[in-house]
This record gives sequence, structure tokens and C-alpha cells, in this order.
Amino acid sequence: MPKLIVVNREGTESTVEADDGLTVMEAIRDNGFDELLALCGGCCSCATCHVYVDPAFKDKLPEVSEDEDDLLDSSDHRNENSRLSCQLPLNAETDGLKVTIAPED
Ligand code: FES
Repeated sequence: MPKLIVVNREGTESTVEADDGLTVMEAIRDNGFDELLALCGGCCSCATCHVYVDPAFKDKLPEVSEDEDDLLDSSDHRNENSRLSCQLPLNAETDGLKVTIAPED
């Protein structure tokens, strides 16, 4: 099972395990982090699942789609490591990925 390291808004780091094929958003939500609202349930239309990814993993993640890019643009907290966590699959490639939950907009 891929491991995911999650840093919450207070800066506390936790490691969670998730089934292969789940998204980062699902793994965060299923492990009880209530900071990540993920209001649209993962259909890339809300931007409340915004995280910052460890730049070391950038090449292992899918490209940012046009929809994701537009939604991230609506955030005041976008930076070069911003992604919507519902668009990021967990698998052997992304095992050990570290994400930080972005501030609320
Ligand atoms: S959960 Fe809504 S865009 Fe990711």
C-alpha cells in the first residue's frame, strides 16, 4: 500500500497508508483530516482539496489539466507546488509522496 505523508495546517506531519488507486484527496479524507473539505467529492470543480506537493514528486504526478489549472487560479494561495489532491492518484510511483494542506481560501 502506498504511503502518503500529510502535513496539516498546524504543521503536524502524519503518515497514512492508502489502497493503490485511491486519490490523495480520498486518502486524506478517509484518514480523518477535516481540514480538507473536498466539497465536490473529487470531480475537479471546487478547489477545496488544494495541497502543496513535494517538488521531488512533480515528475511522477499527472500533468495539470486545464480545469485544474483554472480552479487553482481561483485560489489566493496558489504557488508552484499547488495541486488539487483529487487529481493525484496514489500508486507505487507516488509511494512516499508528501503533501501539505493549503490554507483555506
Ligand atoms: S475535491 Fe473538489 S476539486 Fe478536488
